Amino acid sequence: MPDFDPAACTSEHLRGNLTDLRFRAWYGVPYTEHPAAPELQVLHIFIPEEYFTGGNKNGYTARTAPIFFPNAVGGYMEAPPCRPYVYEDGTFNTEAAALAHGYVVVSAGARGKNTQMNSRNIGKAPSVIVDLKAAVRFIRSVADRICGDPDKIISNGTSAGGAMSALLAASGDSPLYEPYLNEIGAVPESDRIFAASCYCPITNLENSDTAYEWQYGHLDRQHGHRWEQDGDHWKVTPVVNRIPEERMALSALLRRAFPDYINRTAPHGLTMKEDGTGSFADHIKQLILDSAKTAVQSGTEIPSGSGVDLSAGTVDFPKYCTYITRMKMPCAFDDPELHTYENDLFGSDTVDKRHFTQFGLEHSRCGGECAPDEPVFLMNAMNFIRHKGCAQHWRIRHGAADRDTSFAIPVLLAEGLRDAGKTVDFCLPWGVPHSGDYDLPELFAWIDRICR
Ligand code: DHB
Repeated sequence: MPDFDPAACTSEHLRGNLTDLRFRAWYGVPYTEHPAAPELQVLHIFIPEEYFTGGNKNGYTARTAPIFFPNAVGGYMEAPPCRPYVYEDGTFNTEAAALAHGYVVVSAGARGKNTQMNSRNIGKAPSVIVDLKAAVRFIRSVADRICGDPDKIISNGTSAGGAMSALLAASGDSPLYEPYLNEIGAVPESDRIFAASCYCPITNLENSDTAYEWQYGHLDRQHGHRWEQDGDHWKVTPVVNRIPEERMALSALLRRAFPDYINRTAPHGLTMKEDGTGSFADHIKQLILDSAKTAVQSGTEIPSGSGVDLSAGTVDFPKYCTYITRMKMPCAFDDPELHTYENDLFGSDTVDKRHFTQFGLEHSRCGGECAPDEPVFLMNAMNFIRHKGCAQHWRIRHGAADRDTSFAIPVLLAEGLRDAGKTVDFCLPWGVPHSGDYDLPELFAWIDRICR
């Protein structure tokens, strides 16, 4: 068992512009017996001060407080644990706001695609999820010595971190991760969690290229950004690139393959015709329409060029995608030149980047290898949503202006979970780009509803 000293904490105080926050903190607690990356495989624990004097906070007590479990994973990079702080304008960050709301906050560091030890990669798939699971097991093993209800662990993450939040919640206690967990000396405890909050989860990677071309295949311009260092600052300039013809040829092939996947999965009975239209596409149009309706109620104007016509109740989906623009080239995830985060994620201890789909391998322009099936399978939340350890409660947000993955990806997750009998709170908030934690009062209200 990794050591844990309940007395080894500090008393902390954050002064925000609305409230003060007092809490106790344990920093850098190792959560595995045999860490591969000892500086990363640690967690921080934060507990509101009230719980040490028998007090209540927002109706919670030391025993009943939910355990909020945010991760800082982005781009599948290694990540340190999150910690509470106050922004310059006096507002609380997510972790401070969660403490102020009465939650216990535990956050774990995790290995990622860039983690190395002695020139070997030690954080390629599935290391990141293995680490988060090991941390959950550790929390359960010390639950009687900290505050919070270990049966109310709620994970939170954005993008790659949103995908990890989904995977953690879906794959609770799956035996498939056991060899990896044993390797790092994880505590023999349950790694099930209660609920997941997922902002723009970049999951289902092996179906993301086809999904992306289904949505953006009619667009031969890629709207990206150029990052340039300008003294201490980074300057970001929007750039528009014409997509080469050979890439558009790949787009057409990928696009054609997507309906078959949808029809095999048939989430919530939704299907797709060969041309990409049908009830699945209609469902996404309805989500966009609902998003615009909600936005209008709070005073937002819906531009006429967006393809959304509220008075007619219609969405011209290709026009809407033209309006938000295409961000990635085909193949957006398994790149012929191995240039994506995902190619890097699926490297091995000695190979930095690999393909992870048959299509990617067949169209490799750099003689790339393909990752074996297992790490790819173990990174996809979709593979576990019918599994008995899958969490019951889900909140998924994907901005209606988020172009990092197709809308089809979070929709497949949400509808697949509903089919599996889970409760899912899902929408595409209008105008929101690739981002997370932008609606903390609503997130916390959801957590309170499922926990009380
Ligand atoms: C992230 C963004 C991406 O576009 C992607 O493909 C993978 C991860 C991220 O922001 O974490």
